[in-house]
This record gives sequence, structure tokens and C-alpha cells, in this order.
Amino acid sequence: MDDVTAPGTAAPDLTAEVIGRLERCSDPRLRELVTGVIRHLHAFAIEESLTEAEWMAGIRFLTEVGQMCSDQRQEFVLLSDTLGLSMLVDQINHARENSATESTVLGPFYVEGSPWRSNGDAITDDLGAQPLLVSGQVRDTAGRPLVEATVDVWQNATNRLYAVQDGEQSPENLRGRFRTDAAGAFSFRTVRPVDYPIPDGGPVGRMLEATGRHPWRPAHIHFKVSADRCVPVTTHVFDSESPYLDSDAVFGVKQSLVRKLVAHDPTVEAAPVGIQGSWYTVDIDIVLQPDAPALPS
Ligand code: BEZ
Ligand code: FE
Repeated sequence: MDDVTAPGTAAPDLTAEVIGRLERCSDPRLRELVTGVIRHLHAFAIEESLTEAEWMAGIRFLTEVGQMCSDQRQEFVLLSDTLGLSMLVDQINHARENSATESTVLGPFYVEGSPWRSNGDAITDDLGAQPLLVSGQVRDTAGRPLVEATVDVWQNATNRLYAVQDGEQSPENLRGRFRTDAAGAFSFRTVRPVDYPIPDGGPVGRMLEATGRHPWRPAHIHFKVSADRCVPVTTHVFDSESPYLDSDAVFGVKQSLVRKLVAHDPTVEAAPVGIQGSWYTVDIDIVLQPDAPALPS
């Protein structure tokens, strides 16, 4: 009877035995990662005294997450985002020099190959009631302007949806690529972005609801910026007036990425070319770090 494990306890050497089965794994990194997964999963089950019903509910949930995935939707990434894992991996992998622009999540709405546009262009045909003029400069951490840097931007429309989610929008609406000029500057006209919920009609949305969480992200514009001999950055600029800055569903907010969108009144100052009525401006400087440490001089 001595080797029978009492209910509510764990066979003490089961974890070691499972890890031991990896001894013929010839890829050391794979072995390390799978060992970690086994160790943490077993510790989790022991710590929580996981019941069979709870284990089965977890299996069912992960099955539904997989079934929700398609070419258009990656529910596992959404799960990782909402559990904070995506931002943790971002933090681990994007150590940066102090002055460099911080990175944040890419999100599911990035589409490669956005149209090339000229500085000053609008990225939409309809600037609506709250036009926004975005301008900025791309520099390296030594303060030098980066000429011919690529600034790839995308954002949602005032109906909260990105063009890829919405058959009513042109596929090229509210996205574009710009090249910085001789001073490292870029600019474009757009609409003020709005807060929006992440896709919450699937198992991740149900998980948020069941755990008392909301699905909202604070209003933001996405940027992917690259330049020769620099580390590219994937980031956002967040609207400082959003009520969701402290509770972003995917934990993507970093204080350094929050900006005030400044309101302008056409009865007080002349509107910029291509803008009618009142408008907003925001200045966004992007700082990239060199891709190799500078050699001692
Ligand atoms: C986004 O900002 O587009 C996004 C990021 C993570 C999950 C869902 C949406
Ligand atoms: Fe977004």
C-alpha cells in the first residue's frame, strides 16, 4: 500500500520522471523549454490542487481557442496578449538604451505592404469631425536625424474598426508607409483614433467576461519604424485622454508612449492645408538604437 498516492497529494517523483523522458532530446534549447513547461505546469496543478473537472474545463477552453483560429484570426495570440504574456516577451526581448522609443504589441491588424504615401498626405479619404495632423522626426540615440527611414502606420476608424475587420472600408484606409525627409521628418493627416474593444466574440472574450475584465484598448496609432543600421521598433502612440490607459486589455501601455493630442480652433489660427474646421495635432519623435554597439573610438 505504501506506493499508493493518497487523494489530494501528488506522486513526489512524477515530475522528475516526466522530465527524465527528455534525456534523448538532442536539441538543448528545446529540452530546456519543455522541461520548464512540465515543471511549471506540474507545480501549478499541485499548488492549486487542480480538480479533474477544472483540468477538463481548461482542456475544453484551449480546444475552443484552437478552433477559433483561422487565417484571419489568431485566438492564441489574443490569449497571450490578454494574459500579459505578449508584453512580458516584449520586455524580455527589447532591452533598449534609455532614450530609444519603447516597443509594444504588434496586434492582429497589421497588414504588410501598406501604400507608400508622401509626407503631408492623408491616410484616409474622410478626415471626419476630428482631423489629426501627426508629425515627427526619426532620430538615432545620438540625436542624429535618420533620413529615408520607413514609418509604417495603421489605426482604426471612428467606427472602432480597422480596415481589415470591416468590409465597408477600403483595404488601404487608415494605413500607409512614409519615408523621412532630409531632416528625418515625417507627417500625415488622419482621424483622431478612438478606444475600441479587442475581438471579444470568442473564448478569449468569454474568459475576460468570466474573470470580470473588460476588452477595451485605449485609443492609439500603431507605428513600425525602421532605418538602415538601426534596430526597428514596433510601437504605438496613445491618446492621453483615453479612460482605458490604466486598464488596457492587453497591457500594452507604456507611460513614455502617451501623448496629448492638442486641439486647435480655426477661428484662432489658420488650419493646415487639407484640413477644414477644428483639428488636433500631435508631435511624435521616434528614437532608434543602433543595431550594433558603437566601436570604441
Ligand atoms: C491592436 O492594438 O491592434 C491589438 C493588439 C492586441 C490585441 C488586439 C488588438
Ligand atoms: Fe490597435
